Amino acid sequence: MKKMNTTIKIFPTPQALAESLALELVNLINDTNTESLPFTIALSGGNTPKLLFSIIGDQYANFIKWNKVHFFWVDERCVPPDDPESNFGMTQKSLLGKIDITIANIHRIRGENDFMQEAERYTNEMNNFTVKKNGLPFFNIVLLGLGEDGHTASVFPGNEKLFFLDKICTTIVHPITGQKRITITGKVINNASKIIFLVTGRSKARLVKNIIGHGDKKKQFPASYVIPVDGSIFWYLDEESGSLLKQG
Ligand code: 6PG
Repeated sequence: MKKMNTTIKIFPTPQALAESLALELVNLINDTNTESLPFTIALSGGNTPKLLFSIIGDQYANFIKWNKVHFFWVDERCVPPDDPESNFGMTQKSLLGKIDITIANIHRIRGENDFMQEAERYTNEMNNFTVKKNGLPFFNIVLLGLGEDGHTASVFPGNEKLFFLDKICTTIVHPITGQKRITITGKVINNASKIIFLVTGRSKARLVKNIIGHGDKKKQFPASYVIPVDGSIFWYLDEESGSLLKQG
């Protein structure tokens, strides 16, 4: 089995993690020579990244050449952008509203649209505004979270097939809440240069151990299907979410 290029970083607290990752992202964006090409980053939503986005927005708004950065989303709930559930809305409040970036560089998934039509539209938007690698949209960074059921993006347990579809974007319904969502698919995630999992909290410690470990149980968790084709994968953890890794 191809040894994945995996880096695990464990920080004392979510705050320390977010501060370190914010600085690393700033340096990565500024140091990556994309020439005239966009620096493409696909963001996840949920709660965990709020702190990271706020730190970047509050402390580094003037330290990044935003004109080269193009923001995309890994997934979105099918709600309007001002809905408390909106991943874009969360990012707008914590980061985008604090930086000088043209709206043309913000490629949100329009949760307010019909979700089948929006999946098509967002597929076209990714194809039109990213460079291609291996025939797929290329992201310099994909930022992922980890749900307590082992999902990532909006690929929930039982939907692992979304890591093998040729489609780059699809619709999905949350298996418990029934919430309609739009998500990019696994091939796009795995095509990225840097895949960063941002995971905090004790409730995710066993998941993290199962997914990063080599047990066969891992395949019940969609996040374990994140296997970069030729990029690298980083796990940014706090002491709590990484607590079982140290037990060997
Ligand atoms: C979403 C996210 C999802 C999230 C995980 C973790 O739309 O909810 O993209 O994949 O990253 O559910 O969410 P928390 O950070 O809230 O635990």
